[in-house]
This record gives sequence, structure tokens and C-alpha cells, in this order.
Amino acid sequence: MSPAAIILAAGLGTRMRSNLPKVLHPLAGRPMIQHLIGACEAVFGRIVIVVGPDMPALEDAVAPREVVVQRERLGTGHAALQAAPFLGGHQGDVAVLYGDNPLISAATLQALVAARQSAGLVLLAMRPADAARYGRVVLDAKSEVARIVEWADATAEERAIGLCNAGVICAPAQDLFRWLGAIGNNNAKGEYYLTDVIQQARAEGKRVVAVEAPEAELRGINSRAELAQAEAEVQRSLRAAAMAGGATMLSPETVHLCHDTKLGADVLLEPHIFFGPDVTVENGVTIRAFSHLEGCVVKQGAVIGPYARLRPGSIIETHAHVGNFVELKATTLGAGAKANHLSYLGDAMIGAGANIGAGTITCNYDGVAKHRTEIGEGAFIGSDTALVAPVKVGKRALVAAGSVITDDVPDDALAIARGRQAVKPGRGFKGKGKR
Ligand code: UD1
Ligand code: MG
Repeated sequence: MSPAAIILAAGLGTRMRSNLPKVLHPLAGRPMIQHLIGACEAVFGRIVIVVGPDMPALEDAVAPREVVVQRERLGTGHAALQAAPFLGGHQGDVAVLYGDNPLISAATLQALVAARQSAGLVLLAMRPADAARYGRVVLDAKSEVARIVEWADATAEERAIGLCNAGVICAPAQDLFRWLGAIGNNNAKGEYYLTDVIQQARAEGKRVVAVEAPEAELRGINSRAELAQAEAEVQRSLRAAAMAGGATMLSPETVHLCHDTKLGADVLLEPHIFFGPDVTVENGVTIRAFSHLEGCVVKQGAVIGPYARLRPGSIIETHAHVGNFVELKATTLGAGAKANHLSYLGDAMIGAGANIGAGTITCNYDGVAKHRTEIGEGAFIGSDTALVAPVKVGKRALVAAGSVITDDVPDDALAIARGRQAVKPGRGFKGKGKR
């Protein structure tokens, strides 16, 4: 039978100092527990998540997966035992993972499950640069795991051990739940430690082995500083994947990607670009420095920025240009169209080849509702035009600079909507105090 997994996520995450449950803090725009669930789904046929009694947001985030509530937070061993009604009768292996340990790859989980064939209990271990407060893995003369000692309970000598417990174990279901039922809480924290199943397994004569994996995958997140380190790790791997896919980054460490950012081949990214969720950038697009994109599609050959903001619902068609200090929201900019300077384009449909002059604003909101602006193919909107929506400007229409357009403009027409200039001869500036 395929192995099953229990993910522990009932802890309060006190060291985060947050109202949000720890495992909902995002990495690359996705709650950390979703990263872990993603890896688990590649390996485990069934996943049960242990949550706390007052975490409706967490239950929503992991739905429709099976959830069990740990009513009292009595420790990681007690938390794992809560899954017994679901998995106690499971014919096969069960792994226990921690929700605050979200970067484990599916390959490492496969290695864990594979190693179980030749041992009674397997755990994942690492040798972090800073062993900090991780549990230390004590090996015996045969290099098998003798026990794990929690930092709080460890002697100075034990704290000097570099091999640390990552917090992932795997054993046959029947054994695991029997051991969990037998552990006590006689330790520094008065908690039921999951790690104490090792002594139970050893007492029954089982081999307990540690599978080592890189710290980058196994780091736990207990504080904002550790969250930032994990974010850096995720960003590094997302950028590496994007570059492997053919994107050029002039300064990779300044580009912030989202877990679902899609970048095509021959995309050029200048420094300092932020991608929020749901962005697709097609082949041959250039995104210039200091741009911010979310919920948008940028099609082949388009040029964005510098200093552009693309908000959700924006579609930039092929070879269109969005220049500096231009914001788009729920707007389609047609193929080859240009909005190069200082504009707000919201709830608009802009035809192919249209030119949007500097300072053009779609006045899409009347204080109550949003309204649409349509601009036809090849239209030319003069600088500093206000388009008071709902309004339509026809194909190849010309709107004079400085116009306030409140009525539709037909195809091929010229619209001028501004005060006429008055010239008064001799009334020029005479210098200070001489008017
Ligand atoms: C734990 C391990 C430690 C390991 C480290 C790796 C134990 C006793 N210690 O320590 O050996 O080096 O992880 O990151 O297991 N949780 C519950 N219910 C509880 C308590 C915790 O669901 O009653 C959950 C938490 O939400 C968290 C996970 O279990 O996701 C781990 O708990 P945490 O308090 O972070 O343990 P660590 O001190 O990090
Ligand atoms: Mg932890």
C-alpha cells in the first residue's frame, strides 16, 4: 500500500509573534504548508493534517484534505497520535512531517520511504551551518540512531553534535502508533516529544537510521528571520528554474518571483522586479527595472517598464509597450499599442496600434461603480487626456491633447474638449511687484 503522511500544524508558532498560524505565512506567495503538501502529494497516497482548535483559516487553506484537531497542544508526539483514528489501521508506512519544515523535495521524501525497507524507523537529518536549537541526533557505534536529544534537554557535549533532526520520520503505521501511545513527557518542556519514538523502536530491537539531506531543504521555520532565510532559498530555486528555462536576469538576486510565475524563453529581466501571483510572461518579452506585476499576461515581444505597474486582469498583447510610471488594471493593451509615460489605464480595452499619450487617465470610478473605456485600433490619444468612463473612442480617432472626453468619439473623428487659449498682447510678466 502506498505510504501515508501526517503533517503537524497545530503549534502556535509563538516565536513568529503573529496572529496568523505559522504554517500560513507565505513563501513565494504561497502558504508554507502548501509547499509541503505539494511535495507530499508526489509521494504519499493519503495526507492527514493536524491543526489546532482555533484555526479556521488553516482548515480552509488545506481543504479538502483530511484534518484532525489537536485540542490541547501537548507536543509533537501527542499531535501525531491524533491521526490514529484515520491512519491507525493503515497497512503500510506512515511518515510524520512538520508544517514549519516546508522546503523538503519529493526526491528526499522518496529517499526516506525507500530507506524504510531496510530499517524499522527512518528519520531525515541535516548538518546545518548553525545547529541553533534543533534536536541533536545521537548515533551509536554502528552509526545508527541511538536517540534524539532536544536542545532544551541537551548537555553541552550533546549540543556540540552537528547532526540535527529535521523533524521527519517514517515507520510502519502499526508500529508508529504503538510507540506514540507509549511515550512520556518527562522532559524540560513537559511535552510528548515525537522524537522519543526512537527509544521505543530501539527497545523493540529495531534499526533506526538517519537519511541526510541538505539544510536548504530541511530548515525549520520558527521565527521571522528563519522565514526570510527560507524565502531566500525558495527564490534562489525559482530563479534557477526560470534561467534554466531561458530567461535572462541581469541581477538575479533583485528579482522576486512568485511560486507560479511563468517566464518564457528569451525573456530579459532588468534589476529590481517584483512578481505577485498569477503572472505569465511569454517569449521575448523585456521587463525593465523597478516594475511590479501581478495577475497579468504579457505576450510575446512586449516591453514593460522601467517603473511600470501591471495589476490583476491586465493583458499586454504582442509587441505592445508599457513605459515608465504607467499603471494598468483589468485592461487589455492591444498588439503593438503604446502607453509609454505617466498613465492610469483601468477597466479599458485598447485596440491594436493605438497610441496613448503621456498623462492619459481613464476615469473609471465614479465613487460608486467602475465603468469601462474602449479605445479603437489605431486611435491616437493626445497627452493629458481624461477619459470619463463609460466612454468609447473609435478606430483611428484623434483626441486632442488636454481633452476631457465625456462623450463617445466616432471612428476616424477628431475630438477636442478643452478651453480655448486666450492671448492678451502686452499683458506679459513685468517682474516682481510691477504688475
Ligand atoms: C522540532 C523537533 C526537533 C527538530 C525540529 C526541526 C520535537 C520534540 N522536536 O522542534 O527535534 O530539530 O523540530 O525543525 O519534535 N506541533 C503540533 N502540536 C504540538 C506541538 C507542535 O502540531 O503540540 C507542530 C507545530 O505546528 C510545528 C511542528 O509540530 O509545525 C514542530 O513543532 P515546533 O514547536 O516548531 O518544534 P521545534 O521546537 O522546532
Ligand atoms: Mg519548528
